[in-house]
Amino acid sequence: MQRGVGSGGPGGVYVVKLGGSVLTDKRRPFSLRLGVVERLAAELAAARGRLAGLVLGGGSFGHYTARVALEEARGPGEVLGLVTAAMMELALAVVDVLHSKGLYTLVLPPHAFCRPRGLRPGCDWAAARAARDVDAVPLTYGDAYPCSRGACIVSGDELLLEMACALGASEAVYVTDVDGLIVGGRLVEEVGVDELSALAAGGRSEGYDVTGGFARKLEALRQNLCPGLRSVWIVNGLKPGRLQRLLEGGRVTATRVTLP
Ligand SMILES: Nc1ncnc2c1ncn2[C@@H]1O[C@H](COP(=O)(O)OP(=O)(O)O)[C@@H](O)[C@H]1O
Ligand SMILES: [Mg+2]
Repeated sequence: MQRGVGSGGPGGVYVVKLGGSVLTDKRRPFSLRLGVVERLAAELAAARGRLAGLVLGGGSFGHYTARVALEEARGPGEVLGLVTAAMMELALAVVDVLHSKGLYTLVLPPHAFCRPRGLRPGCDWAAARAARDVDAVPLTYGDAYPCSRGACIVSGDELLLEMACALGASEAVYVTDVDGLIVGGRLVEEVGVDELSALAAGGRSEGYDVTGGFARKLEALRQNLCPGLRSVWIVNGLKPGRLQRLLEGGRVTATRVTLP
């Protein structure tokens, strides 16, 4: 039997990142997992009252386009143009599905409202707050933006945390393709952020093996904390019902990173 952990409690306000690994098939360029997106959209719509904002990962739209453009040594302007267009395409495709479930969004393209420095996105969240006032859910996504090298990348991983802090959310949720943080082959149900900072800095240490997308999430977490944010969750979006249960305050298989 799988054990579960608690949720953000009855008063939790959530921001949610739908990872590229659930939205898309990362092995195939420009492949939206329409069935998964429709189900997740329904789960989000059902918990609408708790949802303050949404973030999308790049998956086989943004990441794929960036990799190919760099491999082919395209000029910086071309990389910028191709990646930003690919991500707008992904955002509009997902937004179509969200709207079909009655969940209306305001799309905020990071290249137009953020000034990133390292893992701090530096976005102007005024429009996101205004959208909430009229009952639309602000939605942003991992993107490219113009920088001195030509094109730089701002990841949805750090956008999620800055958005959470800007919108006063108590809970931030990474929806991805694994049950949570796995250490030594086992799911970590709850862990304090202090215990994680060594990992985020070192990548691999103390028997942990935190790599790739997870290393970025943990480092983004370390750099974007704020007083109102109570926990950061990692939950499997390929398992039906888990996201909705989490948003509704139920018990669910996930990792909860608790913040001071
Ligand atoms: N310690 C870990 N526990 C769980 N997953 C991990 C860990 N270290 C690395 N990963 C990898 O991180 C992936 C999720 O991150 P990522 O690929 O960035 O997903 P997304 O873009 O959907 O957020 C998992 O599929 C897994 O392969
Ligand atoms: Mg990722």
